Amino acid sequence: MAWTERLTLAEETARAAGALLRTRFGHHLQIRSKGLRSNLVTDADTQSEDLIRAAIARRFPDDAVLGEEEGQRGSGNARWIIDPLDGTTNFAHGYPCFAVSIAFEADGEVVVGVVYDPMRDELFIAQRGETSRCNGGAIAVSKTAQLGDALLATGFPPHDGINLPNLTEFDAFMRRGRAMRRDGSAALDLCYVASGRFDGFWEPELHSWDVAAGALIVEQAGGKVSDYRGGRIALEGRRIVASNGLIHDEMIDVLKISN
Ligand code: IPD
Ligand code: CA
Ligand code: CA
Repeated sequence: MAWTERLTLAEETARAAGALLRTRFGHHLQIRSKGLRSNLVTDADTQSEDLIRAAIARRFPDDAVLGEEEGQRGSGNARWIIDPLDGTTNFAHGYPCFAVSIAFEADGEVVVGVVYDPMRDELFIAQRGETSRCNGGAIAVSKTAQLGDALLATGFPPHDGINLPNLTEFDAFMRRGRAMRRDGSAALDLCYVASGRFDGFWEPELHSWDVAAGALIVEQAGGKVSDYRGGRIALEGRRIVASNGLIHDEMIDVLKISN
């Protein structure tokens, strides 16, 4: 089944929310922390989520929506999963790397994924069964065959300054890979795997809104997405590995040793 109307709405809405974030970027923001000092939210996060929810409600009023800032509203087999601003810490500090992520799930399976980077004006899209695209052009994962030649990315979840997750894995991948990046937007990290800019990405403690769209974009670009043991990810499974497929087993080996 084609989900063209949902995809079109997701594209238009991601662009509209991205335009809003672009106008707010670098200007006065209300910033607060959600418990941990490394877990920020701004008024732009909520404005963006409100805009996306309103657009969905106008066009598909019966669909359920799960958004990072306002939680789940509605129920049923048709559900949107949205991160209105992925990369809030970057946004709050004026670091121009953040995105809007919108996914649509039917009967428990993500079938549409859209990630928009408003600063680079890059729109990544995927529909299950069709090749992923960036600004209209087909994208594909890299052909890097060995971890030793790989440019890798990761991220660190909000922490309390005492228990620091992912440092063991980071150390292990530093030793095994070519180089590492940590850009602060998991949705964009996944799109960069999909488009061959990164060869692999892993991160613990992510949420469904961080990965729903990006994981589909990786898979439809020929890549592989799994949990740390190589199994299928549950959207709330938290731990994710995404790669070009060729280095996946090597990445799983590293994660097995460090966990
Ligand atoms: C965060 C980003 C970041 C990742 C964090 C996420 P947010 O999402 O995706 O790259 O390392 O774990 O929480 O809070 O900016 O939407
Ligand atoms: Ca996020
Ligand atoms: Ca967010």
